[in-house]
Amino acid sequence: MKCCRVKPVSNRLIKKSSYVNGDWINYEGLNAFAVLNPANQSCVAEVASASPADAVLAVDAADQALPSWRAKTAKQRAELLMVWFKLIVNNRDQLAELLTAEQGKPLAEAKSEVDYAASYIEWFAEEAKRVYGDTIPSPANDKRVIVIKQAVGVVSAITPWNFPLAMITRKAAPALAAGCTFVVKASEETPLSALALAELAGEAGIPAGVFNVLVSEQSVEVGEVLVTDPRIGKFSFTGSTAVGKILLKKTADTVKKTSMELGGNAPFIVFDDADIDQAVAGLMLSKYRNAGQTCVCTNRVLVQAGIYDTFLEKLVLAVNKLEVGAGDAAQTDIGPLINAKAVKTVNRKVEQAVEQGAKLLSGGSMSSLGECFYPPSVLSEVESHMAIAQEEIFGPVTAVLRFETEGEAIAMANATRAGLAAYFYTQNLSRIWRVSEALEYGMVGINEAAISNPAAPFGGVKESGMGREGSKYGLDDYLEIKYLCLGGIEQNISSSERQY
Ligand code: SIN
Repeated sequence: MKCCRVKPVSNRLIKKSSYVNGDWINYEGLNAFAVLNPANQSCVAEVASASPADAVLAVDAADQALPSWRAKTAKQRAELLMVWFKLIVNNRDQLAELLTAEQGKPLAEAKSEVDYAASYIEWFAEEAKRVYGDTIPSPANDKRVIVIKQAVGVVSAITPWNFPLAMITRKAAPALAAGCTFVVKASEETPLSALALAELAGEAGIPAGVFNVLVSEQSVEVGEVLVTDPRIGKFSFTGSTAVGKILLKKTADTVKKTSMELGGNAPFIVFDDADIDQAVAGLMLSKYRNAGQTCVCTNRVLVQAGIYDTFLEKLVLAVNKLEVGAGDAAQTDIGPLINAKAVKTVNRKVEQAVEQGAKLLSGGSMSSLGECFYPPSVLSEVESHMAIAQEEIFGPVTAVLRFETEGEAIAMANATRAGLAAYFYTQNLSRIWRVSEALEYGMVGINEAAISNPAAPFGGVKESGMGREGSKYGLDDYLEIKYLCLGGIEQNISSSERQY
């Protein structure tokens, strides 16, 4: 392994290589890659890059561990998951510190992500005991129709850098609860959080091979194993729509079940009759969480003409109060973006919007804090045809559009191939129903911007993906339905026997 130029952060949860079959793979002789802190480009740690052969070993391990894991009772699996949950909660500070160091988000947000990640494990541990089947009235008297649900088998997953803990537990917890075994390739930008989760899974007593984590610079080659190996029954992905489409095609050859949580283009509609302060507060949360780097972040703010100017005034005031800085500084609201490339992409989108006629009301230039920082920005007079309104921004930029009527707002909101999250603010109950039903989105926040939690089905429609994560629907995605037909039930018995 190469050595870091900068002394690594000291944290007992820092691990140096992938976790396969209950152990850390031997990293001697493997290529290593540096995990950089986006706030200052220092090296947090160096991690060995797993090879495609290591990915095959991880699938071997998951395949071998499957029979005994799925044979455990739901209660036994739930008990182990609860131990894992508690260890994550007990190690909250260390996990959050690592998360901020490699991902950049403010420490307070990192702590909430630890809680959020742990909440999926707790929720699915409880739900593991409620995998109910069904009996169906039979069309023939000599038959009985019974439905049972069984684990899909080995599950593979590829997870992103924006929620390095929660996007893993949101997949692993229902998989393990259902009786599946699991192999995840974590993002190479944020491998340390994933490896820390693996350490705690081991400490919790999750058996070898049940939960495996691969970290690698050979993303494509390792990913290829996870979407093509015929022993894998289900593949789950969170990431961009473009990559999701490629992966989805690859899973087709072995007809895997898939869950795809892809990109969004969330509209945030503010009607004339909204509580404007409540809407501004909701927008700040939905837009600037994780510096705008979530799939459910507001992408387009549609404001009705009657309140347009007042809304903008209040919004700019709120945005100008945001503190930008390193995630571990106490006052920071907005940390760095994940890398310099992301900053350039966001900046290009803003410049292009201004060239096309949008007005810059706040922010909008490269930050002097470092190459990964971008200031929170506000653009008004944005129009639907502009790239900034059509593409996912994935940065701390609010693009505000104007509309006149409810019908126009719905048409603008739905004019996209994405369909993940939408938000709207109004005090009119009839409008709440009309607009909720008309929006072509998997999730709708009504006078509410914090929509993510383990009890709710997270997922999108159209090109934002398929399947749901969280909730009882999220568990179903890791279960196969098996129909049992019990036949030959004799009806003709002697009258002396039939005394009922
Ligand atoms: C995501 O950005 O993919 C997840 C966001 C969330 O869970 O709220």
